[in-house]
Amino acid sequence: MKKIGFYLLVFVATIRCTTTAPIDFIRASCKTTLHPSLCVRCLSSYAGSIKGSDHHLAKAAVIVSLNEAKLAAAFVSKLARLSGLKPREYQAVKDCISTMTNCVVSLNQSVQELERMGRRTAGQDFEWHMSNVETWVSSALTNQNICSGGFGVDGHVKDVVTKRMVYASQVTSNALALVNRFAVSHKKGSHKP
Ligand SMILES: *[C@@H]1O[C@H](CO)[C@@H](O)[C@H](O)[C@H]1NC(C)=O
Repeated sequence: MKKIGFYLLVFVATIRCTTTAPIDFIRASCKTTLHPSLCVRCLSSYAGSIKGSDHHLAKAAVIVSLNEAKLAAAFVSKLARLSGLKPREYQAVKDCISTMTNCVVSLNQSVQELERMGRRTAGQDFEWHMSNVETWVSSALTNQNICSGGFGVDGHVKDVVTKRMVYASQVTSNALALVNRFAVSHKKGSHKP
């Protein structure tokens, strides 16, 4: 009996370890985003918790976006301490810090909102949570896009800030696409007979 139990365990463990279903699911879902390979790279480490769930996929994507926004915010905060910034650059960095602070808050709220939604969240309740998430993630994306706008036409500081913000906004745009995908798949699911 013990032996059979053992072999069963090994068998189940083998199946679990060799299945590529979670990664396939992430790949297929990421195809609908603007930056699919970045999407797969960012999310594959979450495969175990995502499994086949659009909800968990959307949440993981927003967490990735939040983490990136935090890093970008820390990065511009460091820039503010550089000496040799032109007054215009200094002002632009300051504006960018407050923009990124808002961005981190919006993304944090989005993660919390997604965590509040359960399997049985449906109907108007679902729509309400979802529209909050969509609003906050879009607003985070807008904030990231405007951050490099204040730096004038060129300069090293503008370049590094722009690079950082482009990366952050690509990750966030992917998150928004996956949030929308979750909303659509949920609607389809709830209309099943
Ligand atoms: C969001 O912010 C709250 C309060 O600052 C914090 O406790 C929480 O861990 C944050 N959530 C995430 C996902 O970082």
